[in-house]
Amino acid sequence: MCMHVKSHGKFDVLFLFCLLVFADVITSFKLIPEPVEPLLRPKPGGDGCIRCAVVGTSGILNGSKMGEEIDAHDYVFRMNGAITRGYEEDVGNRTSVYVHTAHSITSSLYLLKKYGYKAAPHDEGIKYVLIPEGMRDFQWLDEGGLLSLNKSFVCLFFAHRFLKSPNLNRTYWAIVRPTNGAFTLFLALHTCDTVDAYGFITDDHKKYSNYYVEQLVKTKVIFYANHDYHLERSTWKHLHESKIIRLYQRDEPDTKADKLK
Ligand SMILES: *[C@@H]1O[C@H](CO)[C@@H](O)[C@H](O)[C@H]1NC(C)=O
Ligand SMILES: *[C@@H]1O[C@H](CO)[C@@H](O)[C@H](O)[C@H]1NC(C)=O
Ligand SMILES: *[C@@H]1O[C@H](CO)[C@@H](O)[C@H](O)[C@H]1NC(C)=O
Ligand SMILES: *[C@@H]1O[C@H](CO)[C@@H](O)[C@H](O)[C@H]1NC(C)=O
Repeated sequence: MCMHVKSHGKFDVLFLFCLLVFADVITSFKLIPEPVEPLLRPKPGGDGCIRCAVVGTSGILNGSKMGEEIDAHDYVFRMNGAITRGYEEDVGNRTSVYVHTAHSITSSLYLLKKYGYKAAPHDEGIKYVLIPEGMRDFQWLDEGGLLSLNKSFVCLFFAHRFLKSPNLNRTYWAIVRPTNGAFTLFLALHTCDTVDAYGFITDDHKKYSNYYVEQLVKTKVIFYANHDYHLERSTWKHLHESKIIRLYQRDEPDTKADKLK
């Protein structure tokens, strides 16, 4: 039976508002046509429930063998430089919704080239969702775009109401925003009935590389100042414990060294 995350009222209203604002911004950017239908529909022949997997890029997925489980969902959401080719066993090969920023879609091309990244996913019927980024998208704005800039800040404000970061009180508050992964997870929560999150930050993130493509050398997780990773980590954990999402965590027993700490 499906658990209908959509009924988590307060959260949903905030997010709906945020999305509406985004939709407005996106429309005024004329990058994608105004949506005339819901992003996703239940799969024909099913029970009417929309089951989604949201696949982040964290190193926790390396060696996870979660590919088949991920691909078995009705819809698979990915973001940023979502490389699947060569990593199918761990991350799956389907992408139904691809979420990106103007920045990520171009930067992934050179940042991830050495891992075999050639292009954004382009499965048949895929939906692309652009996150306008306020600050970074300044350059895209023409005179008519000024108002939408204001609105995108309104939206960031609402996203922040949910992800209340103490960083917002610091001078660089204007660039502090949830990660693209967080936006994607929120989008899935709004669109799907059940959401399973893979490759998102967990308590034991220090054990894994920053990114699942970094298989050979263990890299350190990089925390950029414009995101609040600790807040996101505790938020995912909270949503998991509240059974609003199912967060993939490696079920490995702690080593003795870990216990001694
Ligand atoms: C994904 O993998 C499955 C099973 O391995 C295969 O049947 C399917 O064609 C693949 N899909 C894509 C888009 O590569
Ligand atoms: C943003 O909105 C405020 C209040 O509505 C308005 O005074 C201001 O001119 C707007 N700024 C831009 C850049 O459009
Ligand atoms: C920001 O600072 C104000 C006043 O000092 C405080 O009331 C508020 O809780 C702080 N907000 C966050 C998110 O830390
Ligand atoms: C990635 O997974 C493989 C297979 O489990 C493992 O041998 C390798 O050490 C992992 N790489 C990192 C950086 O953790």
